[in-house]
Amino acid sequence: ASIDAIFKKLGKLYFGTCADSGSLSQTSNAAVIMADFGQVTPENSGKWDTTEPSQGKFNFGGLDTLVNWAVKNNKLVRGHTTVWHSQLPGWVSAITSKGTLTTVIQTHVSTEIGRYAGKILQWDVVNEVFNEQGGLRTSVFSTVLGEDFVRIAFEAAKKTDPAAKLYINDYNTVELGSTYAKTTGMASYVKKWIAAGIPIDGIGAQAHLMAGQAKNVPAALAVLCAVASQCAITEMDIVNAAPADYVTAVKACIDIPNCVGVTVWGVRDPDSWRASNNPLLFNSAYAAKPAYSALVATLGAL
Ligand code: G3I
Repeated sequence: ASIDAIFKKLGKLYFGTCADSGSLSQTSNAAVIMADFGQVTPENSGKWDTTEPSQGKFNFGGLDTLVNWAVKNNKLVRGHTTVWHSQLPGWVSAITSKGTLTTVIQTHVSTEIGRYAGKILQWDVVNEVFNEQGGLRTSVFSTVLGEDFVRIAFEAAKKTDPAAKLYINDYNTVELGSTYAKTTGMASYVKKWIAAGIPIDGIGAQAHLMAGQAKNVPAALAVLCAVASQCAITEMDIVNAAPADYVTAVKACIDIPNCVGVTVWGVRDPDSWRASNNPLLFNSAYAAKPAYSALVATLGAL
């Protein structure tokens, strides 16, 4: 059985990977995704510099390709990502007025999410809004609007696609342990925002792990999952991944009832943003690595 089939048997929604039109046009890569994964996340095609490079000029070619492929092949989709300080076009970074930035966020979020309404399981509505001290990252969004940009983005998303589960996603949230400032900071901000009525459904932990960090995932993920109705591991890869590291990190989601799924950030090592670090589950020949087999053996026996 694939890891995705085992995840579903264990009551989870999916085991997924990132993809985009380039990787989906590689026949062998698409075949692996069809056989082994249940969900795809756009690696780059959903980001602001691609989808609205100049104001009001939208470009959804790449994201359409991914979503259409998923619908045709019965795969779920995690939308990534509407509001992020990185890969953000200059015309957005230059905005200094609260009213203008509010409208720009609302238009961007409702146009992107609206185009795929009903087809996307979860959206990373805001991405990487925290700093390593557990406070709000400095960005055009926080500088102009304070933390109100989070409410503005989530309310626009909820109004546009009420059925999608809306996520706040970040890195260094499970990597460094359950008492790391960014982990506890994210948990307390999200708890406060949900209590204030902001429609956040889920917390996403990226899990771009360094060697030796997998052991930190279970306790840190539990801290995050405790404050939202659902949670997920959204971008896992592991530098110099040993099979046991993958088992420890993936099993953390299995063991937490409201953790709905795990996404790994790519199929083959050479296509990863960390290509030289042996981070993924398939090798350059698209063959499953020992970490994949270890996951099937361990999770399949649960
Ligand atoms: O498409 C252009 C191409 O036209 C150009 O010639 C080439 C020259 O640099 O760049 C290409 O764009 C690159 C793009 O990936 C597509 O390959 C960008 O330079 C490169 O910066 C971009 O990197 C992506 C990175 O996000 C950008 O921040 C990675 O593929 C992607 O895996 C990575 O994903 C992020 C998540 O979105 C958020 N969390 C962290 C994660 C890893 O960094």
